[in-house]
Amino acid sequence: MADAHVILCGDTSAMVIARIALDEAEILTLATDPDLRRQGLARTVLQSCEDRLRARHVQSVFLEVAADNMAAQALYKGFGYSLVGERPNYYRRNDGTAVAALVLRKALVVI
Ligand SMILES: CC(C)(COP(=O)(O)OP(=O)(O)OC[C@H]1O[C@@H](n2cnc3c(N)ncnc32)[C@H](O)[C@@H]1OP(=O)(O)O)[C@@H](O)C(=O)NCCC(=O)NCCS
Repeated sequence: MADAHVILCGDTSAMVIARIALDEAEILTLATDPDLRRQGLARTVLQSCEDRLRARHVQSVFLEVAADNMAAQALYKGFGYSLVGERPNYYRRNDGTAVAALVLRKALVVI
């Protein structure tokens, strides 16, 4: 977190961490406290994160999401992220099964 290219938005209720590389950024993690879900907290922190990325002149945001993570996919779809790639067998579950990662991208409109 001491890296100036890494930003954290949110708090212990919900948070997102992103890393900036020139005019691109990658969302490294996004999570809401399990007791506080479906209250709009992820939407709020993701919006805040995108606003900060725009202020840093980021034009594209990338992220990876598990192919079976329908909650996160719905969130990202609502934000305008679209599918640009897939990494087969990317996540390894505790039961030994593997799940693909979907690579999503969003172009940030700089106002
Ligand atoms: C995905 C996650 C961050 C969503 O957090 P949240 O604070 O509950 O999300 P919000 O309340 O802001 O929901 C925003 C939108 O996301 C979608 N969404 C969130 N949870 C959903 C669910 N369980 N099922 C379907 N859609 C869901 C909906 O479109 C929702 O809008 P709506 O409530 O108007 O329908 C949360 O479920 C989580 O922490 N999951 C575990 C970690 C994770 O999967 N992180 C993403 C890694 S890529």
